[in-house]
Amino acid sequence: MAEPIPQEVLRPLTRSALFLVVTIDPGGESRVRDLLTELSGLQKAVGFRAQEGRLSCVTGIGSQAWDRLFAGPRPAELHPFRELAGPVHRAVATPGDLLFHVRAQRPDLCFALASEIMDRVRDAVTVRDEVHGFKYFDVRDLLGFVDGTENPVGPAAGAAVLVGAEDPRFAGGSYVIVQKYLHDLRAWNALPVEAQEMVIGRRKLSDIELDDAVKPPDSHVALNTIVDPDGTKHEILRDNMPFGTVGSGEFGTYFIGYARTPAVTERMLERMFLGDPPARHDRILDFSTPVTGGLFFAPSVGFLDDPPDLPAVTAAPRAEDRAEDWVRGDAGVPDDRERPLQQSLGIGDLKGSDL
Ligand code: HEM
Repeated sequence: MAEPIPQEVLRPLTRSALFLVVTIDPGGESRVRDLLTELSGLQKAVGFRAQEGRLSCVTGIGSQAWDRLFAGPRPAELHPFRELAGPVHRAVATPGDLLFHVRAQRPDLCFALASEIMDRVRDAVTVRDEVHGFKYFDVRDLLGFVDGTENPVGPAAGAAVLVGAEDPRFAGGSYVIVQKYLHDLRAWNALPVEAQEMVIGRRKLSDIELDDAVKPPDSHVALNTIVDPDGTKHEILRDNMPFGTVGSGEFGTYFIGYARTPAVTERMLERMFLGDPPARHDRILDFSTPVTGGLFFAPSVGFLDDPPDLPAVTAAPRAEDRAEDWVRGDAGVPDDRERPLQQSLGIGDLKGSDL
């Protein structure tokens, strides 16, 4: 069997991105399914006229939407975004059936493709969130730090983000988690640069990581470095984008993380929001508040080009899909937080790529 072709999840970072999250209106399933089959053609039509613009679109499908759109099996680890209620900060779950992650070197290309997409489903979906992001100076976020440095590259990136033999029907797919964060820039900018560096865990100007001896355990980098006792490092691929409106004083970072299993990104979120003693929570959260949260599965190109039929009857939501069942936090931190990820997932070695 030919290897499944992934969507352009591994595409190098671009200067512009547009994030569109929609829910499917009752009865809109057939129109949305038709759109999925048109996406490759639309991307070509818009992008071919300006090839240096490197236009791409990754489409993700949420857990509840999956059963409304497709008969047959579903990706093994697809579930709704798990809300986290920490002692101080909360990771909220918000509605979303489809995510369109449109990227290009130019905002006009993102805009044109997103417009074509919406033209086809405007009466079948409700837009829940739309963010137009831009790269800021030398790949910095609006906190002023270089963002994306430790992303895996080359074969390691594919191994970290693409589903392999552990779920062969959905090989070539990727789990994607998004959160839209708003920053309190006034409070952040009141901190001296040295204090900001302690929050992030890297130097601001040079982007060099702080030495372990000085890097605080509640810094962003410390809490998001996940290494098993045997030395295995678990990585995700991020393509965060700054966004904002100066008039209303809105300054944000749109977080997007792709992973071979959502458990890796979820472990990072648990450490950020619920802490990892002695860290009570990630200090970045004292200046950044998530206002959205969603989890999607981005299937292979072949799946989107020729998706399964619509289900014969509209599926009732699975018990696991009721978001309220997923709130974790004050009521009890999950017991498996300290176990190595492979063990808690029971899916074998995440490190090697079976593709
Ligand atoms: C690293 C910014 C949210 C995961 C970083 C770095 C910055 C940054 C500046 C250091 C440079 C780099 O390696 O990229 C932000 C901002 C966020 C945010 C502004 C939102 C307000 C998140 C979230 C996650 C995450 C929600 C995971 C769920 C990571 C990881 C690293 C990282 C895995 C690399 C750690 C390492 O191996 O050194 N982030 N981040 N970030 N961040 Fe974030």
